[in-house]
Amino acid sequence: MESLLREWDGETVIVRYDRPTGAWIFIAIHSTRLGPAAGGTRMKSYPDVQAALQDAFRLAAGMTYKFATPGIPWGGGKAVIAIPPHFDPQFRPALLRRYGALIHQLGGLFSTGPDVGTSSADMDIIAETGDPYVFARTPAAGGAGSSGPFTALGVFTSIQVACEHLFGEASLKGRRVLVQGTGSVGGTLIEHLLAAGAEVVFSEVDEDAIRRFRDELGLKFVPAEAVYTTECDIFAPCALGGVLNADTIPQLKCRGVAGGANNQLAGPEDAERLRARGILYAPDYVVNVGGAMAILGLETQGWTQERAEKEVTESVRRGLRQLFELAAAEGITTEAAARDIAEERLSAGT
Ligand code: PHE
Repeated sequence: MESLLREWDGETVIVRYDRPTGAWIFIAIHSTRLGPAAGGTRMKSYPDVQAALQDAFRLAAGMTYKFATPGIPWGGGKAVIAIPPHFDPQFRPALLRRYGALIHQLGGLFSTGPDVGTSSADMDIIAETGDPYVFARTPAAGGAGSSGPFTALGVFTSIQVACEHLFGEASLKGRRVLVQGTGSVGGTLIEHLLAAGAEVVFSEVDEDAIRRFRDELGLKFVPAEAVYTTECDIFAPCALGGVLNADTIPQLKCRGVAGGANNQLAGPEDAERLRARGILYAPDYVVNVGGAMAILGLETQGWTQERAEKEVTESVRRGLRQLFELAAAEGITTEAAARDIAEERLSAGT
């Protein structure tokens, strides 16, 4: 734990042990260089407390780069609520209210939105005590609702740009895309892909979701053990992080990777592993900025729905094209190119 804290390159971490539930709350503030920190609240069980803190650290850094690349004036932060295994949902609202009160106490250092394990309905509960630092509440509570569909729109655009780079045309007609995870991002992404004429195959662990996409939509289901060896044009990880690693990369049978999950690379060397295999990697935080970007625009800049969709599509397209070119011109990984662009903005402070 001590070395984890010492080696992190972020600014501040707020730690709360929630005695009534046994949950740990970590709010990691990675950088406030470009503005106050914003980031989602991830709520799940972890194998141990260290893993939860580490996840908060990495996710918060991801938010810093996510905002910096397109020049959004917010800093990077993330909250992790590590709940005990078999957590009884009846204690959830009270936990969320105590968490909201903590956010309120921070006085704007950190604002939050949904992430894995939390929804707009949860944001409503957090906002009871955390107002005004809570984004993406339900429309009934005056919020812009789920960020997932906007994230999905950015992922869809990224897949088009990746195809344009790989095959010389952005059309997805007949392209085979493997979507891993059919939650709020992956599920909407699949709709876009089908409308664009792509062939979609999917992998999922939730039985109800498998039934919906396989039996109702008639899509081909790929079992977990076959995900990394399934042939496709684009692999779109839309579940959890760490899926691109020393074990999986050698198995991949795709031409490119573009998905909505945060922290897809297990470590920095995995970007080079992908490049060495000739697989085009669209960096996760460039691809998945859409949710946060749209929600912040809708709720703080008065954007309309149309404006939000246009901003997400155009900025993801512009950003990815720029970094694919930079990576090719300099012979560096796309991840390094994205990092260079973000670091430049961070050091300029705008
Ligand atoms: N889950 C979002 C992300 O990782 C977090 C977010 C949503 C932040 C909405 C702000 C507003 O980008």
